[in-house]
Amino acid sequence: MNVPLLATNYNEIPDMQPRLITLEGIDGAGKSTHLTTIRQVLTDAGLPWLETREPGGTPLAETLRSLVLSQPMTALSETLLMFAARHDHVERVICPALARGQWVLSDRFVDASYAYQGGGRGVAEKQLVSLEAWVVGSLQPDLTFWFDLDPDEARLRLNRGRGVGDRFEQEQRDFFERVRGGYQRRFQERPDRLCVIDAGQAEVEVSAQVKQALESRLIKWLR
Ligand SMILES: Nc1ncnc2c1ncn2[C@@H]1O[C@H](COP(=O)(O)OP(=O)(O)OP(=O)(O)O)[C@@H](O)[C@H]1O
Ligand SMILES: [Mg+2]
Repeated sequence: MNVPLLATNYNEIPDMQPRLITLEGIDGAGKSTHLTTIRQVLTDAGLPWLETREPGGTPLAETLRSLVLSQPMTALSETLLMFAARHDHVERVICPALARGQWVLSDRFVDASYAYQGGGRGVAEKQLVSLEAWVVGSLQPDLTFWFDLDPDEARLRLNRGRGVGDRFEQEQRDFFERVRGGYQRRFQERPDRLCVIDAGQAEVEVSAQVKQALESRLIKWLR
């Protein structure tokens, strides 16, 4: 099974605690586009990184991803499959990479379940809290970029670049408003690791903002 986004570089492992960086936002907000910026900043800083995504990142999780993106299912099945995929991803990819000293860049992580399954599908927060505790324990991202974008603009961008959307991309504006609200609620309580990006700006501006925010974090972490 092909795991398309699993990429890595080969910088030597420095004597610095590796970090987990995640990218969040609704479909079409610019996460994949700006992974490139993050990779470049880390590469320039001489840091080893591994890029991955959710749902996905392992052969099993990619198989679950294709089911979740294509098959009709209840909100609970969707949630459980997302967390099953996440368990495999955390066990086989994220934790081993961090243990080796590699930085991990994940295109979506646990916050996305609070936004999509919680906000979007209406799964109760306390269920998500239990699953999070069970599946990821105390593992939290060190830095999360939230690409915040109006759903209408996200739809326009997706329509320009892609054909028929997956099961999520076919949802209507109100679904994405709820997802956006889910992210907002989740991040209100986690300001320390959050970097909100106004993703409605031009691509170069978004990229500059991501670069600046990451560089200032690196300086803080290096102290
Ligand atoms: N700031 C921007 N201004 C205009 N277009 C942009 C901007 N950022 C990204 N795009 C374009 O918008 C589209 C969606 O971007 P991208 O694929 O990075 O989003 P995504 O958040 O990864 O979406 P998904 O969740 O569906 O994977 C792409 O065609 C990309 O080139
Ligand atoms: Mg993407």
